[in-house]
Amino acid sequence: MSGEIGLRRATLDDILFLVELANHEDVAPYLAAVSARDPEAFRAELEAAEGAPDERGRYVIEHDGARAGTVAFEVVNRRSRIAQLYGLMLDPRVRGRGIARDATRAFARHLFDELGFHRIELECYGFNERAIRHFEACGFVREGVKRRAYRREEGWVDGVLYGLLADELP
Ligand SMILES: CC(C)(COP(=O)(O)OP(=O)(O)OC[C@H]1O[C@@H](n2cnc3c(N)ncnc32)[C@H](O)[C@@H]1OP(=O)(O)O)[C@@H](O)C(=O)NCCC(=O)NCCS
Repeated sequence: MSGEIGLRRATLDDILFLVELANHEDVAPYLAAVSARDPEAFRAELEAAEGAPDERGRYVIEHDGARAGTVAFEVVNRRSRIAQLYGLMLDPRVRGRGIARDATRAFARHLFDELGFHRIELECYGFNERAIRHFEACGFVREGVKRRAYRREEGWVDGVLYGLLADELP
């Protein structure tokens, strides 16, 4: 058991927490190159979500009442009700306790039951074994690989594609 997990929409008061997390040395290398990392980018993301809460959102994961991580979504297909999950990050000090697993499942449940999506998609770097294990443990199904899609300092890396349907959440 991972203790009490909370999930709430992020506010402007969370920006410092989000910036510190996104720039942590055990988080930053795993985020997509275009991810928000500075206060302005997170502020823009939060303002966009405020104007369209059914289409995008940045959330804070809480553990026993304290900030522990974050996760976000945006709609990628309105007609077919598909959401992209992105920006999952857990504070390295609280990893390995099942917090990410419980929070990801709760987030998926929120996207399906409260926001009405029927499918959630996400993409991880192929070298991100911890995230791959994590998402598979949450029930996400590996649907494909974008081979050597992204350029990084160490060379070209794969993008691994995952999907989860509303009736597949354990
Ligand atoms: C992805 C993340 C949220 C998962 O949270 P976590 O608390 O680390 O998750 P867990 O500790 O439950 O680990 C998940 C699985 O990976 C395994 N694992 C842990 N460290 C690992 C490593 N270095 N290499 C391979 N597997 C690893 C764990 O054993 C566990 O597998 P198991 O359930 O089969 O035992 C967290 O690691 C994180 O914030 N990573 C940086 C940001 C990131 O990668 N985000 C996802 C972008 S797609």
